[in-house]
Amino acid sequence: MFVTFEGLDGSGKTTQAELLRASLAAEGRSVVATREPGGTPLGEEIRKLVLGGTAMSAWAECTLFAAARAELVERVIAPALDGGSDVVCDRYIDSSLAYQGIARGLGVDRVLELNLRVTRGLLPDLTFLVLVDPEEALSRSSPSDRIEREAAEFHIAVDAAYRSLAEMFPRRVLAVDGSRAPDEIAEEVRGRLRQLA
Ligand code: TYD
Repeated sequence: MFVTFEGLDGSGKTTQAELLRASLAAEGRSVVATREPGGTPLGEEIRKLVLGGTAMSAWAECTLFAAARAELVERVIAPALDGGSDVVCDRYIDSSLAYQGIARGLGVDRVLELNLRVTRGLLPDLTFLVLVDPEEALSRSSPSDRIEREAAEFHIAVDAAYRSLAEMFPRRVLAVDGSRAPDEIAEEVRGRLRQLA
């Protein structure tokens, strides 16, 4: 099973990815947890580059995220899935579709095409989109990188982008209400995954 978590910074998606990892491991399943951008030595270098202070064009940003993702799939995600492990990833292709494809205006189709090309066409079995009020998410997270420092309007556009991705890919992207207690959200996530199995 390949499961990803998406949402704004401050949405609680990282907490949910960790709760799912722990619950699968507690059931005795082999599970590999990773994150984007990062998760490999090259990916961590790209993370510093893309989230550091250097201004860059939208396609430069998009292709750097795609390069980190290509490396993560090749070295971590595909080998883990081939070896029979579950993979839980904090952010994946949908981050690029929402941030670069929609909010930066590069186009969902073009960003999806690039990303499918560099990831052997690997899409998650299920993607949980943790939805919270964007103003609330902004107030929960202190801006620590170049993208988080974007104006509130940008984060509001990303929130709308994610909601439209859930409509575009209704079988794969499931929106969950992130305003509830973490345990309650985790319970819903487990329930949805059991339906898939
Ligand atoms: P993240 O690691 O979730 O931030 P943090 O560790 O601070 O919680 O993501 C870093 C930022 O990168 C986040 O603002 C979203 C952005 N991002 C994109 O714009 N496109 C992408 O493809 C990815 C993976 C992340």
